[in-house]
Amino acid sequence: MTVRHSTAAPRYDPVRYERGRLTVLDQTRLPRETVYAALTELDQVETAIRTLQVRGAPLIGIAAAYGVCIALAGSPSLAEAQRRAPAVLARLAATRPTAVNLSWALARMERAIAALREPDWREALEAEAAAVHRDGRAQDARMVSHGLALLAPNARVITHCNTGPLATGGLGTALGVLIGAHGKLGGLHVYVDETRPRWQGAHLTTWELAQHGVPHTLICDGAAAALMQRGGIHSVWVGADRIAANGDTANKVGTYGLAVNARHHGLPFYVVAPTSTFDLALDSGAGIPIEERSPREVAAPEGLLLAPPETPAWNPAFDVTPSELISAIVCEQGVFRGPKYDLRKDIAG
Ligand code: MRU
Repeated sequence: MTVRHSTAAPRYDPVRYERGRLTVLDQTRLPRETVYAALTELDQVETAIRTLQVRGAPLIGIAAAYGVCIALAGSPSLAEAQRRAPAVLARLAATRPTAVNLSWALARMERAIAALREPDWREALEAEAAAVHRDGRAQDARMVSHGLALLAPNARVITHCNTGPLATGGLGTALGVLIGAHGKLGGLHVYVDETRPRWQGAHLTTWELAQHGVPHTLICDGAAAALMQRGGIHSVWVGADRIAANGDTANKVGTYGLAVNARHHGLPFYVVAPTSTFDLALDSGAGIPIEERSPREVAAPEGLLLAPPETPAWNPAFDVTPSELISAIVCEQGVFRGPKYDLRKDIAG
C-alpha cells in the first residue's frame, strides 16, 4: 500500500497490531514513499527488525512483543504455546544486541506467558503486548514534559539519529521533546545530523520534523562541530539504546563524538530515554554489546558504490558516551543531572 504524504498532516503510526497481523511503516522506504508492510509470521518480524524496517530502541521492543503473539497465538493449546515460547523469545532476542528495550520487552512477555491460563490465554497474551505499547506511549508523554523544562523559547539545537514517534510508537524521546518544544515554546530550530551510514537523521528525522512543521536544517555528521564553533547553538539532544547504572550511554554511532564536541564548546548534552532503556545490571558502558553491521552499509549504502568494491569497512552501529559528558538524563521519572550518576539509587521501582 503506497500513500502520498504531505508536510501538513502528521498522520502515521509506525506499528499497529490486530489479531495475528503486525502492520509496520517500512522505515527503509522513507522519505521516498510511505509504505506499510503486513507481518504475519515470526520470521517476517525478525527480518523487519534486523533490516531496520522497524527500528529505534523502544519500537524494537514493542514489535518483538507483538512478534511473540504472532508466533504463539496460533498454537493449538496453551501447553503447546508455553512449550514453544523459549525458542520464540530466543529468536527475537537475537535480532539486535544493543538496545536493551528488546530483552526488557521479551522478559515482560516471558513473565506473562508463564502466568497464562485457559481459556482466554490468547487474549491475555495480546493484552500484554498492547500494554507494552501503551506503557511506552505514556512514558514518552512524561519524558516530553520533563524535557521541556530544559529548553527556552527560540532554542537552536542539534540532534542525532531518529528519536521521534518512528522510534518509539509514541511521542518519541529526544525528538519528542523537541517536537513538544516547537508547539509549547516556539522559535525552535533543529539541526539534524544525517547519521551515516543508515541515514536515520536524513531519511527519518527530517521527515518527522516536516510532518510536525518544525523548522530544521540537515547537516553532514562532520559539520556539527563547525556549527557549534560558529556559535548560536544552545544544546544537543539524543536518545539511547542502553544506559548503564553509572549513566554511560550507548546510542547511534556518532553520538560520542557529538558529546565530545558539545563539551569542548560548553554546550549542554541531554539524553532522553525511558527506564526500559536502563540496564542496571551493568556497572558501566564497558559491558554494553555493540552491534556490528555489514561493511556494505558503509562502502555501498543503498547500493551506491562509494569505495572500490574490495575496500574493508568497519561498521559499529552504536557507540558509548561516557557519563561525564552527559549534562542530564531525562526519563519518565524525571531529570537526573550529571556529571555523576547512580541510576540504581535514582530509579524507583
Ligand atoms: O539502529 P537504530 O536506527 O535502531 O538506532 C536507533 C538509535 O540509535 C536511537 O537514537 C535510539 O534507539 C533512541 S530512539 C528513541
